[in-house]
Amino acid sequence: MHIADSLTTISLDTTAKEPLFRQLYVAIRTAILSGQLGAGTQLPPTRDLAGQLGVSRQTILNAYDQLMAEGYLSGTVGKGTFVAQGLRRHSEQARIASPVPRRPLSTRGAAFVAANTRLNIHDGRARAFRSGMPGIDLFPFDVWGRLEARRWRRHDHHFGYDDPAGYAPLRECLAAYLRTSRGVQCDASQVIITSGSQQALFLAAMLLLSPGDRAWVEDPGYRGVTAPLHAAQAAVCPVPVDSDGMQVSIGIERFPDARLAYVTPSHQLPLGVTMSLQRRLELLAWAASRQAWIVEDDYDSEYRYSGPPLASLQSLDRTGCVIYTGTLSKVLFPALRLGYLVAPVELVEAFVQAKALMDRGCPIVPQMTLADFIVEGHFSRHIKRTRDAYAERRASLLDSLDAMTGRMKGLIDIGSADAGLHVAVGFCDGRNDQAFSDTAWQHGLDVRPLSPYFATGNGLSGQRPEPRSGLLLGFAAVPPRELRQGARLLEKLLLESPGLQGG
Ligand SMILES: Cc1ncc(COP(=O)(O)O)c(C=O)c1O
Repeated sequence: MHIADSLTTISLDTTAKEPLFRQLYVAIRTAILSGQLGAGTQLPPTRDLAGQLGVSRQTILNAYDQLMAEGYLSGTVGKGTFVAQGLRRHSEQARIASPVPRRPLSTRGAAFVAANTRLNIHDGRARAFRSGMPGIDLFPFDVWGRLEARRWRRHDHHFGYDDPAGYAPLRECLAAYLRTSRGVQCDASQVIITSGSQQALFLAAMLLLSPGDRAWVEDPGYRGVTAPLHAAQAAVCPVPVDSDGMQVSIGIERFPDARLAYVTPSHQLPLGVTMSLQRRLELLAWAASRQAWIVEDDYDSEYRYSGPPLASLQSLDRTGCVIYTGTLSKVLFPALRLGYLVAPVELVEAFVQAKALMDRGCPIVPQMTLADFIVEGHFSRHIKRTRDAYAERRASLLDSLDAMTGRMKGLIDIGSADAGLHVAVGFCDGRNDQAFSDTAWQHGLDVRPLSPYFATGNGLSGQRPEPRSGLLLGFAAVPPRELRQGARLLEKLLLESPGLQGG
């Protein structure tokens, strides 16, 4: 069956309130956004599809017209209708387009769906300025492949159900790594291997928050944490960030009784600032006085380009209130789906039980391979090599941006880039960053809009920073030459695109 023929199996509900053309429009849009109907796929002629679905031809024409108007389809009458080129697959768009299930979800299930994750996915080959992504061109696939093959050859593990906390030798070497590189106070028994830090955040939200409990998040901040908090039916409390990180005194003033605070102290997402020592101490003092928990997300601190590496917030914790999370997504790559958390001693058992309940533990062979990768010195070599390469990539992006700022006369301002794999660039004229990012994608650039990182009306209100428009520009995923070419194109598009308004 040709892929577009699958449209003939769409079932339309003649008794539903929603018009038939609209049902068809949603179904086709979903198929496009989910990638089921790829760019360039020809859709069935309207007359044929109408016959197969048992509806009028006008219904099909209306659906196709709507999809054409929105840019999902292209073509002309008589010459065929095709899925448009250059559409960006996006989990958010795919979800919005999904039909509502006829039988209701549970209250919990509805909270999961309403969590409004808007988590980004990566689509296609890396292009300038993909963010959330390391340079896959630098990954030693040959070494990894050799280590993994050796594990398959020797297969001396029992290959049955294992400790849900993870492969013991991996927990040992991660504990040693975190103690020396991040000052984390832990032993291996506190390290739990997770499916990325996303799972650690989910487990923390589920274990530590009851419905209605308040949780501080940074504003602007990481969507990957607000989603599990909403799913746990917690009240998400945005606390503004300035150049010293989360403004703890505002959190205390507005939401003193919160049960949990989530922070990215080493490298704030998305603004890139580092939390000052004063703020760290204030946050720890508040948590100690309120019996609250702090989740420290230390997602990319391996990469610091000026000054000495910073110790973690957890290293200052004297009352056992910090849950520390880390990931291999930046140092190795996100699709590996390996991360870890370090639980305070009193929470270890709860986290291990929750992990067991969820998936009984992460796949064993990648964990073994990673342990070998670390023990045999490849991990530290890879960090050193990528740190040097990213420093060069970062310098080429910052040089281009500096030159651009001069020519663009105050249109953009450049955020902190002392650490991590991206830099935030603000639009001083408040132009619509989401529309700009879509346009840039059509022209071959991958830029992420900044405004969605700011809190929306979902959580508790209070005075919040105005959503700032701008872009997140990743510099690690592609080599300097592509970054420089990308910067030239970015400047051209910024000068051509409509300024002001939106956001
Ligand atoms: C703040 C933050 N935490 C964690 C992660 C990594 O998440 P994961 O380990 O689930 O891939 C990211 C990825 O972009 C991030 O931006």
